[in-house]
Amino acid sequence: MIKVEQLKVQFGENVVLKNVDVQIENGEVVVLIGPSGSGKSTFLRCLNFLVRPVEGRISVDGVTLDAKTVSKREIDHIRQKTAMVFQNYNLLKNMTALQNIMEPMVTVQKISKKEAEKVALGLLEKVGLLQKKDAYPKEMSGGQQQRIGIARALAVNANVILFDEPTSSLDPELVGEVLGVIKQVVAEHNKTMLIVTHEMNFAREVADRILFLEDGAITAMGTPQEIFENGANERIKKFINTVSAN
Ligand SMILES: Nc1ncnc2c1ncn2[C@@H]1O[C@H](COP(=O)(O)OP(=O)(O)O)[C@@H](O)[C@H]1O
Ligand SMILES: [Mg+2]
Repeated sequence: MIKVEQLKVQFGENVVLKNVDVQIENGEVVVLIGPSGSGKSTFLRCLNFLVRPVEGRISVDGVTLDAKTVSKREIDHIRQKTAMVFQNYNLLKNMTALQNIMEPMVTVQKISKKEAEKVALGLLEKVGLLQKKDAYPKEMSGGQQQRIGIARALAVNANVILFDEPTSSLDPELVGEVLGVIKQVVAEHNKTMLIVTHEMNFAREVADRILFLEDGAITAMGTPQEIFENGANERIKKFINTVSAN
């Protein structure tokens, strides 16, 4: 479970998240939508303390951190609870697909290379890229690199996976294969997932709940049906029309 209480993030004078409160259940898939600059990435990055909030409390999978008193040890602890899939894949350029997936298992989890390789090969198969195990990132398409990014996130066995616009760097024809892998992960694993995306059809399909973020606050929250169809407010409708037109 993820519980966020009175979360506040500020960069200089700029208050980017304003007293955000939200609770996400185990196994829930939550899609975060909202205009550019509304604080979606900042919110995800707070959950593993890549961004340091000025106020508030965050609990992930039984580890609770208070922004005012948090220690480095607690940050290390909470980071092991989450895995992140980045917009730009963040693969290590000098490592093969297989080595990229093995890397966090070996360095963070201290799993033996032999065991890590076994897990990584299974994940390569799951994302349909076993044949690319010895390829370097520059030898793969963006879609393939992101599928490796997803395999790497699954490798560390965190209960929570955070996706920050996983398809927005991809050419349009490559978006589908990555969304397909994410849908497969949703269907096969009982992970808690937070996904920032502008892909509205995908959001409607996979989300248990949708959060609409505006100016650093959650201004709407509900099932896809509640957000997209029933009582969607005018600002959400306008936002959905804007992103769907692109
Ligand atoms: N490291 C940072 N330093 C200063 N301002 C930042 C930093 N990261 C984000 N911001 C600001 O915080 C606001 C929210 O950014 P972000 O969370 O990236 O929005 P989104 O992901 O919704 O587009 C923006 O105004 C952005 O300029
Ligand atoms: Mg962002």
